[in-house]
Amino acid sequence: MKKVFVQTFGCQMNEADSEEMLSALMARGYMPAASLREADAVLINTCTVRDHAEHRALSYIGRLAKWKSNCKTRNRIVIVAGCAAQRLGRKLTQQFPHVDIVAGAKLISSFPELLDNAGLKRDGDAPGATAPLCAYVTIMRGCNCDCAYCIVPSVRGPAVFRDPQEIYDEAAAKTAAGAKEIILLGQTVNSYRHPDCKDFAALLALLHGIPGLARLRFMSPHPLFVTPGLVEAYASLPKLAHHIHLPVQSGSDRILTLMKRGYTRAKFLQIAQALRRVVPAIAISTDFIVGFPTETGADFEQSLSLVDEAGISAAYCFKYSPRQGTQSCAMEGELSRQEMEGRLGRLLERTRASARRQMEAFAGRTVEVLMENQRSGRTSENFWVGLQGAAPGDFIKAKVTAIKDRTLEAVIAPEVN
Ligand code: SAH
Ligand code: SF4
Ligand code: F3S
Repeated sequence: MKKVFVQTFGCQMNEADSEEMLSALMARGYMPAASLREADAVLINTCTVRDHAEHRALSYIGRLAKWKSNCKTRNRIVIVAGCAAQRLGRKLTQQFPHVDIVAGAKLISSFPELLDNAGLKRDGDAPGATAPLCAYVTIMRGCNCDCAYCIVPSVRGPAVFRDPQEIYDEAAAKTAAGAKEIILLGQTVNSYRHPDCKDFAALLALLHGIPGLARLRFMSPHPLFVTPGLVEAYASLPKLAHHIHLPVQSGSDRILTLMKRGYTRAKFLQIAQALRRVVPAIAISTDFIVGFPTETGADFEQSLSLVDEAGISAAYCFKYSPRQGTQSCAMEGELSRQEMEGRLGRLLERTRASARRQMEAFAGRTVEVLMENQRSGRTSENFWVGLQGAAPGDFIKAKVTAIKDRTLEAVIAPEVN
């Protein structure tokens, strides 16, 4: 049987797209390969959100020329998909003639036809897969926002919302196939709307009823679309994880305006407060960009102080990367590499300290853990927990005994299970 190796760069949406493309390949007789060495085909799903992300994907593709030509016994196939493929289009095959199939991010729904046209014909159904314990379900594609720094709308296109029944069926099928946690995905996941489903909060309520589902998460919401209904959902839907990953990007109103994010620092803090009124121990994680053009020391201090004021539990911090064609690309006031690195280091330090404080608040408390392997799992708040005596898939209550680096240590709490 032929085998395909999948290498995914970028965000969870790319991971979900890779699964979808893999299943189209499996319907064409391919099995997943554990390594490049044993593979007949390789699927590289690329990211272009920052220059560094694109560069990593492209250098990986470059190295595949040898992988392809070194194999004399069969004709190996290189498929490049995703956001960098969409951005570069034909330039990709010009630079890398060993690439056989290019499937830009906008083409995901026609990926099967692309394979047909390339001579990879369907020869059956994909074997019934078992779902991972935590399974992704994409509820929307693309983005209607206009953030000054961001290339995503141009490579993924405008927002398209999936039919709620289709979403329900996919989530229910994944749960029936073994998933305990469903993670809803979209670039502005909480902007979801559909003629058959009022809004995102209504969709959460619908999916909450799936039999056998233990936990529901979503990524990434945008502060602009956090409605009172969504805040209320945390009170009324017990399966909704006590965590929100809410990218803020900057703590400075001046920078937020330049970024065209559509909210203020005060608004973000208000959301955090409203969520804490409903779920006092909710974990709030975020994304920051440091060194947006013209960012002053005072602007940056505002990002630092927001970490503490919002009680951030984890943060992805990125150095600003100018992307061709975006509004901020030509903006003056670029920071030096050294300045950006200095700020990044300070922000990482601040978020680490804040994460530690958030975790310490759980010492001695009972948490709800979904075991993801023999020795560890994640709490509702998305903290990793080390726990003995439970099996993958167990959904149990445990008592936190210590905090070690970035994980909680816990023991099974027999009195509450
Ligand atoms: N849709 C999500 C984020 C998608 S991109 C949202 O709006 O919140 C993931 C993260 O990459 C962003 O949150 C941002 O922090 C970062 N990012 C996007 N474009 C960037 C750029 N040009 N330079 C640096 N970081 C960037
Ligand atoms: Fe990019 Fe903004 Fe859309 Fe997020 S909301 S994908 S940052 S344009
Ligand atoms: Fe990257 Fe595309 Fe996701 S640019 S972050 S893979 S939407």
